[in-house]
Amino acid sequence: MYRCSGEPGDDGPAGRAAYRPGELMMQRFDAPNMLDAPDAARAVAKYRGHADGYDASARRTMRLRRRAIAKLALRPGDRVLDVASGTGLSFPLLRDAVGSDGEVIGIDISPEMTSQARERVSAAGWRNVTVLESPIDTAPIPAPLDAVLFHFTHDVVRSQRALQRIFSATAPNARIAIAGMKYAPWWMSPVNVIVRAKARPYMTTFEGLDKPWDRMLPHLSEYAWTTALFGTCYLGWGRVRDSASVGRR
Ligand SMILES: C[S@@+](CC[C@H](N)C(=O)[O-])C[C@H]1O[C@@H](n2cnc3c(N)ncnc32)[C@H](O)[C@@H]1O
Repeated sequence: MYRCSGEPGDDGPAGRAAYRPGELMMQRFDAPNMLDAPDAARAVAKYRGHADGYDASARRTMRLRRRAIAKLALRPGDRVLDVASGTGLSFPLLRDAVGSDGEVIGIDISPEMTSQARERVSAAGWRNVTVLESPIDTAPIPAPLDAVLFHFTHDVVRSQRALQRIFSATAPNARIAIAGMKYAPWWMSPVNVIVRAKARPYMTTFEGLDKPWDRMLPHLSEYAWTTALFGTCYLGWGRVRDSASVGRR
């Protein structure tokens, strides 16, 4: 069951294309150096420059982060994966929810971001929060996962290989939550110049920015989503298909 609970008329009447011709022209004009697909080496290079100021710049995401983590309905003892965990800003909330008997695993490709995440873990003294520095699509992901958080991870959610890897480690009916930036609805398309300007430092591709979650849908039995920040961000949540799930190891 896939359900959308976006703002009224958010993506227009059923069947409307997400892009208008003018939108495509604008995108060519204001998206130099963006690729058709995510690129891991470029992501590492981008985040080399962002790591120091990242926590300050991510302050505005904290409300959405809390909402996303609440959608995971974590229980004490759960094992949760924080995909592309960055500096570990979600760790305190995840660790609180799973308690000392649970497990939080953060995986991120950037040495600079993971180094900050490790400092956060050691400062807090958490023994059950693990940080792995790795591209997610080749990471040794502990299984089975009870829940998976995708918070502002556009490059990862547009990669089929990354999704295969993650969903091959999930328990049947595992919960997922996903949040990030998206294009505003077509009737607000001039706003997308701002969306691209805000998003450009944090992703290597704008591909799929109209429906960032759609590659995940074949792995899910349930999915619902809503918008935030005037349609320029989204929050989705759902459940992983059971043993028939695609890409299972
Ligand atoms: C916008 S940050 C989000 C960090 C964190 N999820 C948060 O909400 O604060 C995106 C993160 O994705 C990571 N990333 C990009 N591509 C990746 C990949 N293929 N595998 C693992 N991490 C990746 C970057 O290094 C960066 O830390």
